[in-house]
Amino acid sequence: MPGTHDSLWQALSTHQSRMSGVRLIDLFEADGDRARRYQLSAAGLRLDYSKNLITDETLNLFSRLLDANTLPHRVQQMIEGERVNFTERRPALHTLLRTRKSKSPANLKDEAEAVAQCLARMESIAGAIRSGKWTGYDGRPIRKIIHLGIGGSYLGPRMVAEALSPYQSGDIDCAYVANVDAHHIDRVLKHSVQETTLIIIASKTFTTLETRLNAQTAIDWLKKRVPAIDIEKHLIAVTANDDGAAQFGVAAENILPMWDWVGGRYSLWSAVGLPIAITHGFKTFRALLDGAAAMDLHFEDAPWPDNMPMMLALLGIWYHNFHGAQSHAVLPYDHRLRLLPAHLQQLDMESNGKSATTEGMANNYDTGPIVWGGEGTNGQHAFHQLLHQGTRFVSLDFILPLVPHHNMTEHHDWLVANCLAQSQALMRGRSIEEIDDEPRTKSHRYMPGNRPSNTIVFDKLTPEALGALIALYEHKVFCQAMIWHINPFDQYGVELGKIMGESIHDFISGADKDPSIDPSTEQLVQFYKDRRKH
Ligand code: F6P
Repeated sequence: MPGTHDSLWQALSTHQSRMSGVRLIDLFEADGDRARRYQLSAAGLRLDYSKNLITDETLNLFSRLLDANTLPHRVQQMIEGERVNFTERRPALHTLLRTRKSKSPANLKDEAEAVAQCLARMESIAGAIRSGKWTGYDGRPIRKIIHLGIGGSYLGPRMVAEALSPYQSGDIDCAYVANVDAHHIDRVLKHSVQETTLIIIASKTFTTLETRLNAQTAIDWLKKRVPAIDIEKHLIAVTANDDGAAQFGVAAENILPMWDWVGGRYSLWSAVGLPIAITHGFKTFRALLDGAAAMDLHFEDAPWPDNMPMMLALLGIWYHNFHGAQSHAVLPYDHRLRLLPAHLQQLDMESNGKSATTEGMANNYDTGPIVWGGEGTNGQHAFHQLLHQGTRFVSLDFILPLVPHHNMTEHHDWLVANCLAQSQALMRGRSIEEIDDEPRTKSHRYMPGNRPSNTIVFDKLTPEALGALIALYEHKVFCQAMIWHINPFDQYGVELGKIMGESIHDFISGADKDPSIDPSTEQLVQFYKDRRKH
């Protein structure tokens, strides 16, 4: 059990105290081989973790923490379909979605067959739409996809579509809409033409308010031009709730499956990724899956300390539980990866933002960090000030593709130089002695340094590299959950707000006030009612 009563936890805490005066630059000074020794490779990605506040002794303690939590065994349990999502009594089989059928675990043949069939349908649907064989009601080919979903049914495919923009082919565009705020769907529909638009409704449950309302609005919009009998030519659903989709008029043959063994935030590998297959081609989608599968294999096979997801997980725990870091920032130095922090935010915070342990107790240690970030170099002119001189300890991942998809070398050289300069500046800092001018501002220009970071580099932002990168973070989050003794696969915390939203909506719509509505909220509702158009 983690926490202050655990002897290993205490050993790590003692080790942290002993290391409190240690400077990263001195560690490099003392070990000329540190940069080479503290890096590892997996599935086309390279992790340089040498700029972390660790020594070989730290790594030994990490290793004991992994052993104490039987990590390799836990990984096996997840991949082989045990009910690791124990509160909902389900497996978590996102890895199966990207495993080639011939390599799937022997006990999961039925599930692997279902996945293969779904991929075949995705390939055929994407092919038909791309070739113009799938037409709208008046025989014109589809030119626009509107993908409706929220959370995992939205963030993943939208991020991937953007990250892999150089691989987009053909002339089909996709707009991704999530928010119940109609400012978005209104604008998207105004720029779309019913005859050539296909709506994808992605919702595992098909009960999600935002997606249902947006779907209804989009269908009403279709109906303005499309004869009722032909509406189904313009609708596809991805869901585990076929009846729910059928009630919206989606034809049975246009419903693609989701399974209860795939969590929403792990679902971009399922038919939720259909818009990617349509706009970027199925081959690109398959390559994304293959990249993730390569990381899965590494995760399953690589021993400590060569296991990249385990290394990231342990470094995170080191900072969150032993150095007081409250947040973790993801800093991709690639404009196309600017949506990655938002995807990882859901992945990490919805998975590990938990307070109840496996044993059903309240934990007495911190769990999931606040995950945030943004693209470099933009962040340097916004929030990096706090990273360099602020009072908060933030753990950091720099992400850097080495080869761009453009040939503007000057731009790319500057991008790379800036990325590397940031991690170096955070580590080195600037001492008072180095500041020889302007005595008045000396202390303001002092930079403490010794701020650690990881750097993940890879050759090019290919579908394979992106797949591996996303899978890396999925597995990191899993490892941390195992060490924190929490279930990363449920999300009960989102329920209460949804229930209260219903009663406030009823109140707005004229029902009596629910006794659970407090005076402050009641007053705010009243402000709204007074201003609401009827
Ligand atoms: O409210 C949280 C959540 O359940 C996420 O876990 C999920 O990704 C999202 O809502 C969307 O759910 P669905 O795909 O069922 O519409």
